[in-house]
Amino acid sequence: MEDIRNWIHTQLWYQVPISIAVIDREHHVVEANPHFAQNFGDWHGRYCHEVYKGLSERCENCAASKTFVDGLVRQREEQGIVREGKPSQYLVQMVPLIGQDGTIRYIIEMSTDITNTKLLEQEKFDAERLAAVGQTVAGLAHGVKNLLMGIDGGMYVLRSGLEKSDAGRILKGWEMLEQDIGRITEFVKEFLEFAKGRTAQVQLIDPNEPARQVVALFRETARLKGIEIQADLQDDIPEAFMDEDGIHTCLVNLVSNALDACEVSDRPNRHVVLSTSEQEGKLLYKVADDGAGMDYDIKRKVFSSFFSTKVTGKGTGLGLLTTRKIAQEHGGTVSFDSAEGAGSVFRLEFLRERLPKPNGDGQDRTEQE
Ligand SMILES: Nc1ncnc2c1ncn2[C@@H]1O[C@H](COP(=O)(O)OP(=O)(O)OP(=O)(O)O)[C@@H](O)[C@H]1O
Ligand SMILES: [Mg+2]
Repeated sequence: MEDIRNWIHTQLWYQVPISIAVIDREHHVVEANPHFAQNFGDWHGRYCHEVYKGLSERCENCAASKTFVDGLVRQREEQGIVREGKPSQYLVQMVPLIGQDGTIRYIIEMSTDITNTKLLEQEKFDAERLAAVGQTVAGLAHGVKNLLMGIDGGMYVLRSGLEKSDAGRILKGWEMLEQDIGRITEFVKEFLEFAKGRTAQVQLIDPNEPARQVVALFRETARLKGIEIQADLQDDIPEAFMDEDGIHTCLVNLVSNALDACEVSDRPNRHVVLSTSEQEGKLLYKVADDGAGMDYDIKRKVFSSFFSTKVTGKGTGLGLLTTRKIAQEHGGTVSFDSAEGAGSVFRLEFLRERLPKPNGDGQDRTEQE
């Protein structure tokens, strides 16, 4: 048994393809296995942020500092620089060494290189995006085809008006054409806007600001439709790195959907509430309505491109898709609950630590505690 133990101990340290390092409270690397030195170079007398990432200061949001305080085992994805100056991605596990008196003097960090896995993930993501483009183009063709049928009708009326020299019919045909060409223009413009995407302008913003603006924007429209719109904003949410226009667009989409759903409901008092809150690093925007709600079949389809239950020309069916795209650009998610006849709640959720950084660093970090 002793032999096995020794063998495991030495082999583990010398042979496993995992970089193992021990750091002290000042974040000096005090011990490391050969694989670590092979990957990250000479570590003697150097700080951990220097060796892993070539940084002169401690990493922002340093996980080791937290573990020194609370003694929790942490797991994270990090980006570092390996020996030849190549960027690499690795999964690091931090385990505190707790002394008999309860103090934590050292942390063991075990890093597995996941650069290739991440590359495959990216390739899969690109392939999925291409498939989505195919679906989207098919949807576009379908949408335009419906609108072209309207144009056909307009042309028919116009031609018959011309043949009969009927000024009234000519005018009617002309108006039908104008309306349908207008709709096609709108439709194609919206599609291009969606397909092209926009470069996110990430800045430190007050997360409540876009919410306030959107409620103000819809107040009058809601009043005219007899719907009450309210903002319920938690007022101590700290600033966050977000694309304000992007979040504004998401909230416009969600609130306009909520108002549409209230409009088609036959309930006498209808409400839309946009609320914001933050708890344990999770930022939440919630749009709740007591409108028509959705049945099972609609719920399944809401995120498909061009899916809309609204009349042609009113809904393009891109609102929720655009919202999801922007949320994903912020490392966030869109989810909803809905019950037919009772209403719906849409949620935009952002983990603060996954929000984009203006300089593009620190994306895709995860932490499990
Ligand atoms: N709050 C809601 N209550 C009920 N149904 C909803 C709600 N939000 C979305 N839906 C359903 O999901 C469909 C898709 O929504 P989405 O915003 O993507 O497109 P749209 O509103 O139809 O068109 P667009 O937003 O492009 O003008 C809607 O047509 C509607 O059937
Ligand atoms: Mg919509």
